[in-house]
Amino acid sequence: MKKIAVLTSGGDSPGMNACIRAVVRTALYHKLEIWGILRGYEGLMEAEFEQLDSKSVANIIHRGGTVLKTARSKRFLTEDGQKIAARHLKERGIEGLITIGGDGTFRGALALSMHTDVQIMGCPGTIDNDLVGTDFTIGYDTAINTVVDAVDKIRDTAESHERLFFVEVMGRDAGLIALRSGIGVGAEAILIPETPTHMEDLIRRLEGGRKNKSSKIVIVAEQENAGRAFGIAEKVKAHIPSYDTRVTVLGHIQRGGNPSCMDRVNASRMGFAAVEALMEGRRGEMVGIIDKQVRFTPFADAVKHLEELDKNLMRMVEILSL
Ligand code: F6P
Repeated sequence: MKKIAVLTSGGDSPGMNACIRAVVRTALYHKLEIWGILRGYEGLMEAEFEQLDSKSVANIIHRGGTVLKTARSKRFLTEDGQKIAARHLKERGIEGLITIGGDGTFRGALALSMHTDVQIMGCPGTIDNDLVGTDFTIGYDTAINTVVDAVDKIRDTAESHERLFFVEVMGRDAGLIALRSGIGVGAEAILIPETPTHMEDLIRRLEGGRKNKSSKIVIVAEQENAGRAFGIAEKVKAHIPSYDTRVTVLGHIQRGGNPSCMDRVNASRMGFAAVEALMEGRRGEMVGIIDKQVRFTPFADAVKHLEELDKNLMRMVEILSL
C-alpha cells in the first residue's frame, strides 16, 4: 500500500481534527502518501483532493470542527454519485480510505465499496454516541461536558427564580447525550426517544418529590417521542399553571468547542489504529474502543442503533432526583 486518503463526513464533532492528525502522522511514519478529501463525499465527487504532510496537521489537536470540512451529501446517496466518487479514487491511485463520521458516513462507505476495491476503514466521529462497536464516539465526551456546563448555568438562574426549565439537547435518533448529561446535572427528569414518555407520568413526577425544591430541570432529547421541548413545556404548563416555565434549546453549541482530553486521546488511538488496520489488509470496518481495547466492527453492524438504553440508569435518575 502506497497511497491512502482521509475524509470527514456528516455532522462535525470535536476531536475529528485529532483523528485526522493521527491518520496523517501514522501514514507518514509508514511512508504512505496521504491525501485529504475536502467536504466529505461531496468533495470526493468533485475530486477535491489535497496532499497532506506533517505540517498540514500541526496545531489542530486542540481545535473543534474539522480542517477537512464536512457535508451531508444528497448526491452521494445516488448510485451515479457513488460511481463518480469511486472513479476519482481510482484515477488518483488511492488504495485505502479512512472515513471519519457517524452512521450516515458508514452507510456511505458501504455503498461506495460496491463500486470500488479501495479498502475502506472508519473512525466514529459523532457527538451522538449512537454507534455499535465503541464505548464512546469521538466528540461525545466534549458534547456532554458542553451540555453540563450550560445546564449548570441554567440551574443558577432557575434556582434564583424558582423556575421549571426544559432544556433540549441534540441526538438525532438517540438519547445518549440527554441521558448522560442529565445524570451529570442532576436533572429532575430525562426524556429520550428510546423510552416512551407518558405525559401523565411526567406531570406526576414533577408535582411529586420534594415539595420545597426551588428549581426543576427536564432534559429533553431532540427526537423525544412526546414532541420537542417547547411542545412538552406547553403541555406541562397546561396541567400545572403554577409553574414558571422556560425552555432553552442548546443547539449547535454542542457540536463545537475544543475537544476534551478524552476525545483527543480516543481520536488519536482510533486514527492510528485505522491506518495500521489498512496496512494489515482490513476493510469495511469501524475502529472502536471497548473496555480500553481497540476493536473492529463491520460497518453494517456499527450502524445498528441501540434500541434500548440501560433501564437501571433511568431508574437511578428517578431515585436520585427525589
Ligand atoms: O448527528 C449529529 C447531530 O448533531 C445530531 O445530534 C443532530 O440531530 C444533527 O446532527 C443536526 O444536524 P445538522 O447540523 O445537519 O442540522
